[in-house]
Amino acid sequence: MSAHLLQRVRHDLVPGDHPYLNGAWAPVFEEWADDDCPVQGHIPQDLDGVYLRNTENPLHTPLGLYHPFDGDGMLCALRLHHGRAAFRNRFVRTRGFVDEQDVGRSLWSGIAQMPPLSERPGWGAHGALKDSSSTDVCVFAGRALSSFYQCGELYAADPVSLDPQGAVGWGGHFPRSGVSAHAQVDPATQSLLWFGHARQAPHLQCGTTGADGEVSQVCEVPLPGPRLPHAMMFTRHWYVLNDFPLFWDPDLLTRNLFVARMHDLPSRFALVPRSSPAQNPSQRRGGPAGCAPADIRWFEASPTYALHFVQAREDGEEVILDGYRQQCPCPPPLAGAPAEYARMMAFLDLDSLRPQLWRWRFNLRTGATQEGPLDDMVCEFGCVHAPDPDHAARYVYSMLGEPGWFLFRGLVKLDLQAGTRQTVAFGPGVFGSELRFVPRPGARSEDDGWLLTLVTDVGRGRSEGLIYAAQNLAVGPIARIRLPLRIPSGTHACWAGAAELTVPARRAVL
Ligand SMILES: [Fe+2]
Repeated sequence: MSAHLLQRVRHDLVPGDHPYLNGAWAPVFEEWADDDCPVQGHIPQDLDGVYLRNTENPLHTPLGLYHPFDGDGMLCALRLHHGRAAFRNRFVRTRGFVDEQDVGRSLWSGIAQMPPLSERPGWGAHGALKDSSSTDVCVFAGRALSSFYQCGELYAADPVSLDPQGAVGWGGHFPRSGVSAHAQVDPATQSLLWFGHARQAPHLQCGTTGADGEVSQVCEVPLPGPRLPHAMMFTRHWYVLNDFPLFWDPDLLTRNLFVARMHDLPSRFALVPRSSPAQNPSQRRGGPAGCAPADIRWFEASPTYALHFVQAREDGEEVILDGYRQQCPCPPPLAGAPAEYARMMAFLDLDSLRPQLWRWRFNLRTGATQEGPLDDMVCEFGCVHAPDPDHAARYVYSMLGEPGWFLFRGLVKLDLQAGTRQTVAFGPGVFGSELRFVPRPGARSEDDGWLLTLVTDVGRGRSEGLIYAAQNLAVGPIARIRLPLRIPSGTHACWAGAAELTVPARRAVL
């Protein structure tokens, strides 16, 4: 057998009856490797790279109420090369992870616990949470970088072995208030575009870091108070940030209670120039470039909340943004759920939030916003063919939610040009993670490539990597790759092709 156990980590978790500590979300406590995973079907010879996925995998009995976004970060890497597959899963060695391994129990409570019961100061926008680095992962300058949605460090790892490489420092310019999940790599400039939000001013900032680890720009974006942005996008000339009216109630926040609610405000989007001669007053001389507040363009739109976006581009005098606009961003408690979990479960349920693919058009000349749906299907967590800064993708691949749960029961391929959809179900009790589309080398059409995901089969207690041919979803996966352990369900993922797996000669500053 090529599969072998790497390590068993310290844990003391008692899951009880918590819906997100059992079933598809039951955590694991082992790290495994398999250098030659069993395959049913075939892996295309020219599919060469690594599918990386992050997820929340708690190791210790929670202090107070557990939320599934609290769990410790665990990366999975599925390396595909020459028609074969290798797998690793490793926990992210955050500072909080190490401290809790030392004592063998939880030291921080989670986002649903009010007031917090944390025994040590926390990180990020909330201030009392452990930075779990469990939300997102990208590959930048040859390294996997994991990140946390409430802001924190960016933890580096080898993208194939997942060997930990510590938190990045960027030559002393890493933001003190941390960086959010959903930093984006711009392939045109080989740079990382990132943002962070904070309870104290500046409440929002964004910036750019080069492959050499040099921070070239930091922009402070003025906001009237703390907000809860989850993702950003960019175009050739702009960062695209948001200020949605769903944010922590300011009065309750003064009592250290973190209750998100809708406020009677419009949605706002900020277009922040990626190059600006201005210097922020708070930047020290000789540091990164800044951005003058007057250079930021603001646009209003109908009230909503959006977790994720799929593409943004410039077209003449317009900036166009596609993402998942929630029709019900502050849903009532989930009917039928246990009372203590019902509010949390509603905020995790796509059927409650009802996101649909939406297009916002920001006119730079008039300052007006036009907006409307691209489709009315409830879906989220999407991707397109490698985003093109000048052209809209025709096909968007999204995940379909399991009703009542933060679980993905299948996928949908939307053809925005023809107005058609094709859906795929993973099967009863089988749940996937965010898709990544990988173009076939030499592809002549936008959907000529593969879709990758990791699935967990709750009934059989096992997990697989699945590869679909994006042009022929009806035949099902062309490869099923058996993983050496059952992994919990997970969300965000990325794909890095073989050329992206090498650290550049001029090494990025950690
Ligand atoms: Fe996210």
